[in-house]
Formats: sequence, structure tokens, C-alpha cells
Amino acid sequence: MAIYLDNAATSFPKPEAVYRAVDQALRHAGGNPGRGGHGLTLEAGRIVLDARESAARFFGVRNSERVVFTPSATEAVNLALFGLLTAGDRVLTSSIEHNAVRRPLYRLQQLGIEVVSLACDPDGRLDLDDLEQQASRGARLLAISHCSNVTGTLQPLVEIATVCRRFGVRLLVDAAQSAGHVGIDVGALGIDLLAVPGHKGLLGPAGTGLLCVAEDIRLEPLVYGGTGVNSTSLDMPDRLPERFEAGTPNVPGLAGLQAGIAWLEESGSDMIAARVDALTDRLRRGLEVVDRVKLFGPGADKVRGSVVSFVIEGQDPSVTAFHLDREYGICARAGLHCAPEAHRTIGTFPEGTVRFSPGPFTTETEVDQAVEAVSELARRA
Ligand SMILES: Cc1ncc(COP(=O)(O)O)c(C=O)c1O
Repeated sequence: MAIYLDNAATSFPKPEAVYRAVDQALRHAGGNPGRGGHGLTLEAGRIVLDARESAARFFGVRNSERVVFTPSATEAVNLALFGLLTAGDRVLTSSIEHNAVRRPLYRLQQLGIEVVSLACDPDGRLDLDDLEQQASRGARLLAISHCSNVTGTLQPLVEIATVCRRFGVRLLVDAAQSAGHVGIDVGALGIDLLAVPGHKGLLGPAGTGLLCVAEDIRLEPLVYGGTGVNSTSLDMPDRLPERFEAGTPNVPGLAGLQAGIAWLEESGSDMIAARVDALTDRLRRGLEVVDRVKLFGPGADKVRGSVVSFVIEGQDPSVTAFHLDREYGICARAGLHCAPEAHRTIGTFPEGTVRFSPGPFTTETEVDQAVEAVSELARRA
């Protein structure tokens, strides 16, 4: 069996309940939700509603209609950015963002939006004074990732949200690497827009994601089409979530997502997070003492996400990942991880790093085997 240490890309394996829920939905809820009134349609609709209510509860969203399902975190970010911003707006972001944020912002820049990128330190941390200074000059939005997919750095969301509120800057949080690992209460934190993948920390299937939209945020839709309601109008409905959910939803995926969230809640999401944190620490501490291995991001004793980036000095990360896969059956990711600016920030551009990311089903033995494999490769390099 392969040792899967690529949960930051997508989590694997999933809890058994997720596989069962997808199977059940495909077999027994075959209708198209919101389209017609027969039993199978109603059953599919119930699955989508359950998933929405679970997600709302999990992220502290009072009105579940403000949870919009998308196929990925990327599309959730795109909906937030293209839906909110118009020419002349000024938007703040950071120097460690994933291309899911950088590329839509680059496109928006071409359409007349001013984009200001705040430099993070070599550990990937945002400078709060810098944020305050830029926010005081006025901005429509701050778009920032909660946890870096390259360094595992967790940004201080409470402080960031406080600055945003003080200066009337709306806050979009890309929670791709934190949702499911770190508790996020959008209501308590005052997050205006939260973009979440369903297939990473929430343990749902690929093809799922969501955007939480605050009550006083109005967005333009990203996708136009049938919603099962107001069919005579050529305009998209005003009502959420229909306004942003044109087309047939991913019912089996959402059934799996609901099961993933339920599994986290039943197992205790804090307990799961603590377990993954302990594995991440073990991995980091193990690699820290290996000769010729250089680690990036905050240290093992710091508050951090479940991502460990490293290089073997003198060896291209893609070569390390190749050997890990072929010789040791260890699945890791190498390269820029879709975040080139993050690598410029930490000094690993253009080769990037090797990234390990344990998940809830990773074992201590697997972590130790990974450390041993890297030690051997470092000795040979
Ligand atoms: C920080 C960050 N943002 C966004 C994404 C995109 O997520 P998705 O694959 O669900 O579109 C990722 C995926 O790796 C990520 O790490």
C-alpha cells in the first residue's frame, strides 16, 4: 500500500461513511433536485439540503441559504472576486497566495481593478502593520489564504478581521488548507466570504466546494442558467443559493461531503485536528535533524497547518519526489504547488519544494517511514 502524504492536494482515503454515502446517493437518490416533484427528485433535494445545513453549522453560518455549493475552492474564490469587484476597486492580497486567488486577481487587474500584494516574511507571515497601513488608504476587499499550502503558515485571522472591520474592508478567506483542520466560525470572526474545498480537510469527494456569503454581501453570479425556480425570467433569481447554483448539482458529491463533515463532527474535529497536528510535528521534528535537509515555514512548536515543505540540498525536489514514489511508495508533491509567489517569498523559486501533508488516516509508522526514506535519499544525494 502506498503511503499517502498529499492530503493538501486532496484528502485520501476518505472515511468509510463517505464512500457509502456516495454509493447510496447514486443508487437511491437519482433525481435532479429542484426539477420536478417526484420521489427521487425530493430525495436528491434532501441530500443537498442536509449537506448545506451541515456545512452552515460547521462554519457558524446562521442562515444555511448563504452557503453556496461550487465544484471547488477555486470556483468559490472566482465567484467571490468576480462577483464582488468592479473597475476602480482596490483589493489587497498577500505574496503567498495560490493561483486560485492570484490568477483571477490578475484578470481583474486587466479589467481595471487595482491589486496590492502585501509582502509576507520568509516564514509566510503577513505583516499586520503593513495591512493596517494599506487598509487605512481604503480598499474594497482583502483576499487572503488562512493557511499557506506551501509553508503551512497560519495567518492570524482574528487580528486580520479586526483590521478589516476597522477600515471597512471586506474579507475573503481562502480556507483551502485550513477548513476541517482549524475551527472557523464565520459569524464570530466576521468573515464576509469564505471559500472552502469539500475534498480536502472536509473529507468529501473531488468536485465539491462551497462559498459562505455574509448576509450583507451582494454578488453577481459567475455562472448563468437553469435553477429550477423563476424559469420565466431571463435574470438569475435574487434568492440564495439559487442565484449562484445554475445547473444540476453534484448530488453524490454533496452526499459524500455531508458524510465527511458528519464524520469530523462525530469523531470530534478538534481531536482529529490535534492528531494531524501531532503527526505534522513528528514529521517536522524527524526531518529537522536530517543532514542536508532544509525545512521551510514556521517551526514544529509553532501554530501551523498540516503541511511540511522541504528540500534535500543539491537535489531537485521533483527528483526527490520521484524517488519517494518509485522506491518507497510515498506520495508527495514537488514543485511550486500552484503558488510561485509563495516560493519567491520563501526563497525556493523556481525549483520549489517537496511537500508532505499528513491526514487523519496517516499513521505514526508511515511518518517515520517517510523520515527514514528522506534520510536515505539525503545520504545518497
Ligand atoms: C491555498 C489554496 N487555495 C486554493 C486551492 C484550490 O482548491 P481546489 O482544488 O478545491 O480548487 C488550493 C488547492 O490546493 C490551495 O492549496
